[in-house]
Amino acid sequence: MCGIVGYIGTQTAVNILIEGLERLEYRGYDSAGIATVTEEKIESVRAKGKLFNLKEKLENHSNFSRLGIGHTRWATHGKPEEHNAHPHLDNQQRIAVVQNGIIENYQTLRDQLKEKGYQFYSETDTEVIPILIADILKDLPGDDPDKALLEAIGKAVHQLEGAFAIAVLDAHCPEQLIVARQQAPLILGFGQGEFFCASDVTALVPHTNTVLSLENGEIARLTPLGVEVYDFQLKRLRKLPRTLDWSATTVEKQGFRHFMLKEIYEQPAVVRTCLATYLNEQWRAADHPSHSPVFLGLDPQLTKNLQHIQILACGTSWHAGLVGKYLLEQLAGIPTTVHYASEFRYAAPPLTPHTLTIGVTQSGETADTLAALEMEKQRRLTLEDDYKPLILGITNRPESTLATMVNEIINTHAGIEIGVAATKTFVAQVLAFYFLALDIAFQRHSLSLEAIEHIMVGLRQLPAQIETILEQQGSAIEALAHEFAETQDFIFLGRGINFPIALEGALKLKEISYIHAEGYPAGEMKHGPIALLDAKVPVVAIAMPGSVHDKVISNAQEAKARDARLIGVTPMDDNQARSVFDDLLLVPHVEEMLSPIVAVIPLQLLAYHIAARRGLDVDQPRNLAKSVTVE
Ligand code: F6R
Repeated sequence: MCGIVGYIGTQTAVNILIEGLERLEYRGYDSAGIATVTEEKIESVRAKGKLFNLKEKLENHSNFSRLGIGHTRWATHGKPEEHNAHPHLDNQQRIAVVQNGIIENYQTLRDQLKEKGYQFYSETDTEVIPILIADILKDLPGDDPDKALLEAIGKAVHQLEGAFAIAVLDAHCPEQLIVARQQAPLILGFGQGEFFCASDVTALVPHTNTVLSLENGEIARLTPLGVEVYDFQLKRLRKLPRTLDWSATTVEKQGFRHFMLKEIYEQPAVVRTCLATYLNEQWRAADHPSHSPVFLGLDPQLTKNLQHIQILACGTSWHAGLVGKYLLEQLAGIPTTVHYASEFRYAAPPLTPHTLTIGVTQSGETADTLAALEMEKQRRLTLEDDYKPLILGITNRPESTLATMVNEIINTHAGIEIGVAATKTFVAQVLAFYFLALDIAFQRHSLSLEAIEHIMVGLRQLPAQIETILEQQGSAIEALAHEFAETQDFIFLGRGINFPIALEGALKLKEISYIHAEGYPAGEMKHGPIALLDAKVPVVAIAMPGSVHDKVISNAQEAKARDARLIGVTPMDDNQARSVFDDLLLVPHVEEMLSPIVAVIPLQLLAYHIAARRGLDVDQPRNLAKSVTVE
């Protein structure tokens, strides 16, 4: 939610800021703006809407400043208009601020500052920050502006409530950029005589692989000579940057029309990486091994004596959690509940002993998920041992805030995902649940060694099976998708382990194509939703081999009898299903337990091609942002 970027060094800041914002635009695209410092003056340019509007404004604009900040906005307080775009300035135009997050007490601060005579020109929460800093600065000695700015920001952050990451410029400090973080991500990048900050490493990798994630309650001062990190009391901290193993090309489209399509096609490689990382290749049931079939390296205390698992997540990650529940219950035999993080926090279920809480978030920054996990941790901290907090994170961003809050993480190794609609990170999250379920099943002897090995054999076939779908079905799915460019409603049906995939197929379609879509358990149709059906509402049914196959086919027939056009996700060799469906999204034959990972691929492609055919901005759908850092 909102992306911020900052630069100080030897190059022209504007180019670096714009390039950084391009890579952060997935975080919000309601408006964009930059501010630079030249000759003790702030120069700020802002534009409503997507970044290209700002770029247009900057054409024929010469600005060679080597210090600047930039912002791309996902509107929270105030409409997406230019006057609400960041950076925001104080009344003297001396201080410029960009912010990602929400200042919860902004109304109180605004009222106090107004009483002191300050004017406000936006409806945003952010505008209080530069005005507050300027107000504090005016009472500090002016002989050393660099020192005064740090001190003023140190004082200001204590008055701000909420989650925020800020970057601040002072017209009187042309050699200094100050940033602060409280529960919203902020990463620093270290170059040769130049330093960067950004909400996400994606904006940094073209320039440097040496990064430092700021932690909550930290302020950093960036100058052309280096970076100093302080806590909010302005005590200097010693921090060591780390090296990223990403290259600039990981954040490029590499010939694909959209990042989402590229990311869909990356899935075989992602699955291969996860299998190579977590699955023990040497493990054979016949050897009666005493060690786990997977290398998760989790502290045994986390999974010993478990009686209950609760999964907290949002959106697509919540769907992965639903598949996880199926696996943890059916393979590992542990009762599992799945909660929307945004609901859990305000109506937490009664505490149960020996409970593992799993937070699933690809970004590791989703405010609802983090807040729910924190709440769960806090309410267990003071209880006796049986109730102690056992918290596991499943994330694609091991450097994220999530990782600092949990006992352990499973890194999903999907590589950076730029498309706002999650695809490869979903598949990697689901895989993480297979590994976890196998690990616990092995420890608790809830599955025979042979059954474990059988699943491992199936998992190893997944990359080639996904490749088959992408290679053999890609064009057919595209052609089919074109027939639905004008459709207004879709229903997705699944049962058992594939009910979450029906939900995911519907979510993918609605978020990128703006077509109304619903996912239902196929057996529920007759209890109400079947009334929606007619010839104008296509029904996509996931009919994979296994315990519910025939039931799904029957439910699909019921839809057909109401004139719905039936599209089946079904194996190439399933002649029964082939004769029922009007259109087919064919996948290789896999066992029920492994079917979600193959079933979701054609649904991702269907959603993508419908949206692309409708000429929509697939990677940046309206009103959405990749990383939802507000509650
Ligand atoms: C949908 C999508 C969102 C996210 C949700 C949670 O394609 O991407 O529904 O799944 O916002 O995000 P994370 O996983 O980062 O917590």
